[in-house]
Amino acid sequence: MRLLNELTIPIISAPMAGGPSTPELAAAVSRAGGLGMLAGALLDLDAFGAKVDSLREVRFGVNLFLPDDPSGADVDAYADRIAPWLEKYDAPRGELTRRDDYYPEKFRWLVQNPVPLVSSTFGTFDAAEVAALHDVGTEVWCTVTSVSEAEEAEASGVDALIVQGPEAGGHRGSFDGSAPEEPLAELLEAVRRASALPRIAAGGLMDGNDVAPLLKSGAAHAAQLGTAFLNTAEAGTRPVHREQLTATEETAVTRAFSGRPARGIVNEFMRDHSGDAPLAYPDLHYLTAPMRAKAGAAGDPSALSMWAGTGHRRARAASATDLMAEWATQLQ
Ligand SMILES: Cc1cc2nc3c(=O)[nH]c(=O)nc-3n(C[C@H](O)[C@H](O)[C@H](O)COP(=O)(O)O)c2cc1C
Repeated sequence: MRLLNELTIPIISAPMAGGPSTPELAAAVSRAGGLGMLAGALLDLDAFGAKVDSLREVRFGVNLFLPDDPSGADVDAYADRIAPWLEKYDAPRGELTRRDDYYPEKFRWLVQNPVPLVSSTFGTFDAAEVAALHDVGTEVWCTVTSVSEAEEAEASGVDALIVQGPEAGGHRGSFDGSAPEEPLAELLEAVRRASALPRIAAGGLMDGNDVAPLLKSGAAHAAQLGTAFLNTAEAGTRPVHREQLTATEETAVTRAFSGRPARGIVNEFMRDHSGDAPLAYPDLHYLTAPMRAKAGAAGDPSALSMWAGTGHRRARAASATDLMAEWATQLQ
């Protein structure tokens, strides 16, 4: 709660792995009175450390994906099914490099080089990890998508819960790779009954007017917004992803790109493979990486993962600094 009490605007910019959440975006949101998050996932240790160290002058947090054990799914069979797509982009089957995304090294680094806040996604830090972070003065939050996950996180000793509804852009933060469908408002109430920890609402919230009723009713203490920042000047979002935010009507949850459910703008690859993609993260993430890179470089939206929440058509092309100022007035 300590960090939440310091915010003059109770809005947090979501960690957005894969490029969108830059240190510049996090710094702009923190300087405006909110809290900027850095995505620690999908980076090697050197890139991770350099990004984190670039933010030391402001209040900020770092997010980590917790590693998944192999699911046992037949990844080769999926690779065969998507072969025509790989051929179309002249892309090889990508190889899985580090299943654990350098998690042990990143965690150790954060203990040795403490930051104000660390949040977890795809699971909760265990009690010993929470204690290690607390010992160096770091606050700990956990992303949850159900009451049982909230209870597990609370038992580990975390300080606050990021309650993520199915409206959210990007990966569902569920511990077991499921995609619970209870809408955000209902989930917040259910978590409120089960846990006394502060709640940070996430999913489909696009401005101060969306957040204000949640704060007023006590449903949430703050909100974490991702999609609303995707088209800001400070974000690292690819041009084709920015264009599709307003050009396309529909989002859906799919495992087709990464092997874990994630909400993104519907495109041809998703239409072809959402039905047959297994639960196998990060195997599918690495498998499809060369295809996504080639599609992205060509500005072709049909085979690219373009994560976005249900509010994507309201994402504004503006600076994060200006948006934060506007939302602050809506929250008064
Ligand atoms: C492009 C993108 C990437 C994301 N990457 C991460 C991530 O690295 N870690 C994480 O905890 N959540 C990630 N999320 C989910 C956000 O934390 C948050 O739950 C979500 O953005 C809230 O819904 P909204 O997008 O409708 O605001 C991502 C979301 C998007 C849109």
